[in-house]
Amino acid sequence: FSTARYNNVLVSRPNPGVALITLHRPKALNALSAAHFKDISDALVEADADDSVGAMVLTGSEKAFAAGADILEMKDKTFADAFTNNFLANWEVITKLRKPIIAAVSGYALGGGCELALMCDIILASPTAKFSQPEISIGIIPGGGGSQRLTRIVGKSRAMELCLTGRMFSAQEAEQWGVVSRVVGEGEGVVVKEAVEMAGTIASKGRVAVIACKEAINASFEMPLSDGLRYERRLFHSLFATNDQKEGMGAFAEKRKPNFTHS
Ligand code: CAA
Repeated sequence: FSTARYNNVLVSRPNPGVALITLHRPKALNALSAAHFKDISDALVEADADDSVGAMVLTGSEKAFAAGADILEMKDKTFADAFTNNFLANWEVITKLRKPIIAAVSGYALGGGCELALMCDIILASPTAKFSQPEISIGIIPGGGGSQRLTRIVGKSRAMELCLTGRMFSAQEAEQWGVVSRVVGEGEGVVVKEAVEMAGTIASKGRVAVIACKEAINASFEMPLSDGLRYERRLFHSLFATNDQKEGMGAFAEKRKPNFTHS
């Protein structure tokens, strides 16, 4: 797991169980060209497959998490090309990863940048974060899930307003509406520090339970309640087959800290 493989992202291990992936295309405010996005998804896939990683943090710069898909790369694209090659369908790979991903957002998270954050499991925002789905202003609509994921979170009227006008919304609005779980304190690097700490906490839990928990919550977006409840209960039952359940409950009974083996 090393930065050497990637041109447009930096990767590091700020905590033994945490992979930090930093979008690094500063000249274009982290606009998501095809090559940039491939680096982001490859780095996340690599971290997800790494046994020593329990959670990932995805972040950008102080000025921009990501200013959207690369407009200069898209501007001459034809319908036939977009349709035939299923443009942006490859972005979905991020939603198939099994370990939790925390987006730490400072500055602009626009268009595909906002959608990238929405594909993560938790979003922490700096007070400087500015979100929007501005595609309508350049003759298109969101293509990375904005009209679907944002609508499920903020409701129809707000999603319509945001996607039809393209207006920016603040970190505070995002928190009020439940788009982000929390706005952290002010200052450079604070949001990344908080996200790494949170990822460290998640990585310290039993991995099997963490993956099952993410899967159960994601199932709630896809299933009717009765199916989702059954799905949750079956996963819950299955966790009684793990060593981590025996260790977690045994440690509680013995009034000590659990030592999870992720098994
Ligand atoms: N694509 C390509 N290049 C971009 C970019 C983008 N989305 N956003 C910024 N850049 C580039 C600019 O072209 C500029 O490059 P040069 O210095 O070579 O001219 C550089 O980044 C800095 O940008 P600005 O000079 O514009 O910086 P600013 O501080 O004045 O403005 C901004 C910042 C408000 C974010 C502005 O850059 C902007 O509006 N960007 C576009 C935002 C946008 O519309 N995003 C949606 C894209 S469509 C999409 O994402 C589709 C989808 O659903 C997946």
